[in-house]
Amino acid sequence: MTQLSAEEYVESLLTRDEQLEQVKEGIRSRSMPEISIAPGYGKLLTLLVKMTGAQRILEIGALGGYSGICLTRGLGDQGKLISLELKKEYADVAQQHLNEAGLGDKIEYRVGEALHHLQQLADEGQKFDVFFIDADKGNYPNYLEWAIKLANPGAIIMGDNALMHGRAMDPEQNGNAVTKMRQFNQSMASDPRLEGVVLPAYDGLAIARVR
Ligand code: DHB
Ligand code: MG
Repeated sequence: MTQLSAEEYVESLLTRDEQLEQVKEGIRSRSMPEISIAPGYGKLLTLLVKMTGAQRILEIGALGGYSGICLTRGLGDQGKLISLELKKEYADVAQQHLNEAGLGDKIEYRVGEALHHLQQLADEGQKFDVFFIDADKGNYPNYLEWAIKLANPGAIIMGDNALMHGRAMDPEQNGNAVTKMRQFNQSMASDPRLEGVVLPAYDGLAIARVR
């Protein structure tokens, strides 16, 4: 028998989640990018929301709603998720998937440029307990600044793809997205406004708590 990778092994311990498999199938059937987070990663999102008792979550980058379902599952009765998505077609698919999961009334999609909506949320005086950043990598440092502005004290900020398939630590790579991701990672690990760490799990998971 061939040996499993660490990620394959830990994922193999989990019970298959039909709801989330349906989301992946919905993404595949529409030829959307198959870059949803892994099942164990999704479970961590649910757990973090439950463990912190978060009531208000902001997601940046919805794709097909996979992480949206995972985050929303952790919310209590009064909880709510706002999710920013550039493409209307993706937000519509995500909303449909949340509806199918019985979670449609807990999520609000806002379509268009995230930076516009972040300003709008600030103008509305909205604050959040958990942030999940999983959108265009070149804007991660901007999204982090907005998350800190929109954070309740003690809020949790997470960022997907901190390693960018190894490009983050490849000295030959110096394009805009990777440079901005390095800046984001450095802030997550050492910005004095945060207490955080970057984990080499999956494609890199950055997680911080706002002081
Ligand atoms: C890729 C993966 C992601 O999780 C993402 O948010 C963007 C791109 C990728 O594998 O290219
Ligand atoms: Mg991602």
